[in-house]
Amino acid sequence: MAELQKDPMTRGDFLGFGVLGTIVGALLTIPPAAFILGPVIDVNVRGESDVPDDWFRAGHVSEVPPDEPKAFVVAFPLNQVYSERQVIEEGVDTQEQTLRNAIWTSWKDLKPPGFIAELGQNRTPGISREQVIEAQGALNVLSSSCAHLGCPVRWLVKEDGGEFLCPCHGGIYDINGAYVGGPPPRGMYRYTYEVREDGYIYVKHEFDVGGDKGSQKPFVI
Ligand code: FES
Repeated sequence: MAELQKDPMTRGDFLGFGVLGTIVGALLTIPPAAFILGPVIDVNVRGESDVPDDWFRAGHVSEVPPDEPKAFVVAFPLNQVYSERQVIEEGVDTQEQTLRNAIWTSWKDLKPPGFIAELGQNRTPGISREQVIEAQGALNVLSSSCAHLGCPVRWLVKEDGGEFLCPCHGGIYDINGAYVGGPPPRGMYRYTYEVREDGYIYVKHEFDVGGDKGSQKPFVI
């Protein structure tokens, strides 16, 4: 009588291989999952910005009038991992996603440096090192996003001057971005900026969040 051939793999071996296969499969999944989820975790969990840590040109100091704020629009490029959208701006095919933010600029307490009146609106190509230092200390460079829930604030001209007014819940700020009234818990967010010898104001997409320089983002809608 023929002897039954013994199965070379026991039930224990079979289960062991199953568990091993599951572990190896899980390990192989981690790198692509980390690659895919990394940017999302950086932005939404770790609070990092998806805008490059670069300087972007806003406008020339001569364009900021002596008696009221001036809004510049800056298109910050976004680091996009998963998709690209074709963006045609000023005839240039940029192939990138951008975050367009309005930036309010004004002279602190409406006191522009003396040389600004001489520049007029001519956007002269450059200013001296001394003028750079003077302009740097005299500017407000403010986010247009309200410090309450992020609605874009507007400049409201009044008989005695003007104020920034938020149309959503009535938040009010003065020309320097300081809190005046309404629900916002603080004054307007201030951009990190610098004035250069070409006479232009450059900004980074980061903000002074109340004394501490940091990269905390204001609400942006
Ligand atoms: Fe500006 Fe509420 S969003 S006051």
